[in-house]
Amino acid sequence: MDFKFKKYWRKTGLSPKWGNKLIEIINQKKPNHFLEIGVFCGVTSRNICEFLNVIHNGNFTYTGIDLFGEESSDNNEKKPKYITHQKFSNPLKHIYYNLLFKENLNSLNSVKKFLKKFDNQISLYKGNSNNVLKNLNIENIDFAFIDGGHSYQTTFNDLKVVHQSMKGKKATIVCDDYEDASYITDVKKAIDDYVKSENLSLRTIEGKFAIIEI
Ligand SMILES: C[S@@+](CC[C@H](N)C(=O)[O-])C[C@H]1O[C@@H](n2cnc3c(N)ncnc32)[C@H](O)[C@@H]1O
Repeated sequence: MDFKFKKYWRKTGLSPKWGNKLIEIINQKKPNHFLEIGVFCGVTSRNICEFLNVIHNGNFTYTGIDLFGEESSDNNEKKPKYITHQKFSNPLKHIYYNLLFKENLNSLNSVKKFLKKFDNQISLYKGNSNNVLKNLNIENIDFAFIDGGHSYQTTFNDLKVVHQSMKGKKATIVCDDYEDASYITDVKKAIDDYVKSENLSLRTIEGKFAIIEI
């Protein structure tokens, strides 16, 4: 497979190493209907759309949910530091995005523009996944990447709603940040509790991706 995860000169939650690992899993499963909870600046979304476009010749959908700047009502939410301020280690990016174009990369408009090429395939929702998911028809989703709120309650709820909608079908869930981020411990607890309650099997990759195959 010669597809390589690109950063597109934006900010990304996944390093190229982990982006490529995710693409590798997607390549094994070849899903048609993808859900990402936690879109951030859309870099992983764009890579996923580019890849699904190649393997399915345009016949795929991508659904993304993010707060896109909305405050989470969950006080237990621990935001990774790079999200709180649009800071760049590259000073050119600071000049380009913050001073020249004043573009917030984690906004619905910015991500819509960035994914414009896939207008016909994508649906983006702004809001808290705890509210958005219950009003969304996700019956056809056959691959979910859960990387939104990292509190116990949000992780548990995201996983539960997604898994319940996938029951009885061939589908895959990948959760990010299972136990690798030292400042986030709730994700692992929530996943372990849910997996135990449903008697599911879980495999992990280097303590970062937690994978549930249905
Ligand atoms: C770690 S980043 C996602 C990174 C992205 N998946 C990537 O690979 O670049 C987490 C994102 O989840 C969003 N988020 C946090 N809590 C959320 C919630 N309760 N509902 C929806 N989105 C949420 C944040 O706004 C942030 O953009």
